[in-house]
Amino acid sequence: MSDMNTDAGMPIAIILDPGTYFRCSCGRSENLPFCDGRHQGSKHLPVRFTLEQRQKVYICSCGNTTTPPFCDGKCGFTPPE
Ligand code: FES
Repeated sequence: MSDMNTDAGMPIAIILDPGTYFRCSCGRSENLPFCDGRHQGSKHLPVRFTLEQRQKVYICSCGNTTTPPFCDGKCGFTPPE
């Protein structure tokens, strides 16, 4: 039996180029998982992160990570090495 908590959601696996990104934290964006500015007027702010090289990242979607915006395995997922 898997330890995966499917109720918590799975991370979003995505390959990104070097650069600065803003992970939506309000859920209103029409460009998820990235911020499109729709948080204006709410208490939420996007989570900024920068990548130095093109790489595959795992963006938390359960909201329980301690390393936002990246998955830390709280949902039960273990990113491949
Ligand atoms: S649109 Fe959701 S945080 Fe900006």
